[in-house]
Parts: sequence; C-alpha cells; structure tokens
Amino acid sequence: MKILGIESSCDETAASIVEDGKRLLSNVVASSMDIHVKYGGVVPEIAARSHIEAIIPVIQQALDDSGCSWDDIDGIAVTQGPGLIGSLLVGIMTARSLAIAHDKTLYAINHVEAHVYANFLTESTVPGLKLPANQPGFPMLALIVSGGHSQLAMFRDHFDYVLLGQTRDDAIGEAFDKVAKMLGLPYPGGPSVAATATKGDPDAFQLPKARMSKYDFSFSGLKTAVLRLAQAQIGENYDFSSTKLPGRLSEAQKANIAASFQHVAIETVVDKAKLAYDEFKPASVVVAGGVAASQELRRQLSAALPLSIAYPDPLLCTDNGAMVAALGCFQALQGQAGTDPYSLEPRPGLSM
Ligand code: KG4
Ligand code: ZN
Repeated sequence: MKILGIESSCDETAASIVEDGKRLLSNVVASSMDIHVKYGGVVPEIAARSHIEAIIPVIQQALDDSGCSWDDIDGIAVTQGPGLIGSLLVGIMTARSLAIAHDKTLYAINHVEAHVYANFLTESTVPGLKLPANQPGFPMLALIVSGGHSQLAMFRDHFDYVLLGQTRDDAIGEAFDKVAKMLGLPYPGGPSVAATATKGDPDAFQLPKARMSKYDFSFSGLKTAVLRLAQAQIGENYDFSSTKLPGRLSEAQKANIAASFQHVAIETVVDKAKLAYDEFKPASVVVAGGVAASQELRRQLSAALPLSIAYPDPLLCTDNGAMVAALGCFQALQGQAGTDPYSLEPRPGLSM
C-alpha cells in the first residue's frame, strides 16, 4: 500500500511517498520561508504563489526519489485544513487533478492529526533521517505543539480519540515567534529564542502561568507579561512601542527574558501533559509539531514523565508530506472510501 502525501497548508510545499503507514520512500519539502523572513511572518499571498511554482516539481521529485511510477501509487492524501485558504487551495486542486487523471483514491487529511502520524514512521529509505524504532502503542497521549496549534489528545486507537484540551488564544509556537520579535530575534522565533535562552538564566524573572480549565492552554497573557517585563527592564512604561525594544535591551537582558519565557511556556504544556499522563496512564506519549524540536521541551518532559518518548526526526516535526501520507495510509488500510475528487474543498478552520 503506497500513498502519495501532499501538504501545502502554510509555507511548505511538500510531497512524500509512504508505504504501509510506516516506511518512508521519499520526502521532498520546498519552503518559501526565506521570502517570509524579511516580513517577520508568513505572507499568505506570497505563500500561495510559491506553492503554485513549486508543487508539480516537488511531487515529481517525490515520485523520482521513491523509484515509484504512478502505477505503483494506491492513493493520494492531501491536507484539507486547517491552514491558509490560498495555500490549501493549491495542494487540493493539484491533488484533485492528479486523482482524476491517474484514477486514484483521494484522501482528505486533517493537518493537526497528520502531525501526530509523523510518529508512526519507523523505516526509511531516505538517508539521514533518525526515526523511532517502533510505532507508538495505544492508548496514546499526543501533545501537538506548533506555530498554529497547541492540543492535547488521547487516542484509544486510530481514528478514535478525544481532544482533552487546546489553546484558548495563541499557539505556543506563535508565542515564541512574538517574543522573538520583541527581542529583535529572527523569525521563526522557536529556534532563535532557544539559542538566545542558552546564554540566560531561566529563573531570572518570574513570569505568570495562565490558569485555565484542566487541559486547556493560554499563551496571550504570557506574551503580554513578557512585553511588560521588557518595558520595565529599560525603565519605560506600558505605552513604549514594542518595535523599539530590541534597540534598548542589552544582550544579557534579552538572554534572561528569552530563558525565563521559554521555561514557563514549555512548563505550561508539560504540566498538562503530566496531568493527562497521570489520569489516563497511556501506553505511549507522542509529541508533534514544530515545537517538538525544542530541547527544553524534551528535557522537561523526560523529567516529568516516567516513560521515554521517541521523537520523530526534526524534519518530520515541522510541516511535511510524510505525515500526510502516513495518515492517508491508515485511512486506506482501514478501508475508508476516500473523498470525491470532483468536489473536495479546503477547510481553513478545520479543527481536531
Ligand atoms: O509545525 P510547524 O512547522 O508549523 C505549523 O503547523 O504551525 O511549527 C512551526 C513553529 C514555529 O512557531 C516555530 O517558532 C516553532 O515551531 N519552533 C520551535 C522550535 N523550533 C521550531 N519552538 C520552540 N523551540 C524550538 N526549538
Ligand atoms: Zn503544521
């Protein structure tokens, strides 16, 4: 069973071929991030235009790298949402056309669920990827942490899960991106805040942790607290513009703010994961999304939980086609019928 996965929900144009939900045969990712960096965030129109240019070559490369021809492909999986409407449209229209032209079953994929399925890839013919030795067992607790999402879900089995909680405002990765901007660090903020934090003291400042219902998160209060802290550090009040902060803060102040913020932001999700672990006693815990690359998250989770977590390769934590293809494989293996290639529409606000 070989599935071609197509992902285009944000700035990555990605395609991949996965066999039997576990074996990665190719993984191609083209990103327009180098253009967005200049604007400090993803510009939707530029992302959509970049997808149009990249998508056919990316899919062809994924086929070539895998050694597969269209005859070898059993179905096409494509991200339906959530994501940027213009970006989603390019992937979906391409997938629909290819499914009709090559007479393949088309599977519509929820991007957030797909992130979880990066954890099911255990074998690869793609060189240089470090993968978990075994697929996670059920019941499985999944922590999904990215630039667009922060979710905690408990999976009893494939396609049988409950969403325990999610963010009420910003996603955790978004909070990293916004704090990076206040400190004058490059976008995306996760890696740049993490690098600056290594030079600072995580206990330098006490930042507040949001009090939410049991499994929900909130990051907008923390973001505002960081802004107020930075203003206070340079002796200014709350109407001082955040855009002028980077020029006034010393390197030591930036490092201490980055470290204190990172510590509390990560602790916020780790606390909830621990709470869920204690309540549901899952057989496995998986982490998904771009923030799974955070070393601080890995350190805190290993200190908080009694079981070890096998992380996907960082290349499979950020957006990719492999996770989409993997989830598509499980839909196919379960005998799901697929969707109509003549009518599939993007769902930008799709939730778990
Ligand atoms: O999953 P992803 O590529 O895109 C979404 O679907 O959102 O995640 C990107 C997010 C960005 O917000 C980025 O700042 C964050 O992941 N990120 C990190 C780290 N690496 C990437 N956040 C914290 N620490 C990191 N090391
Ligand atoms: Zn994503």
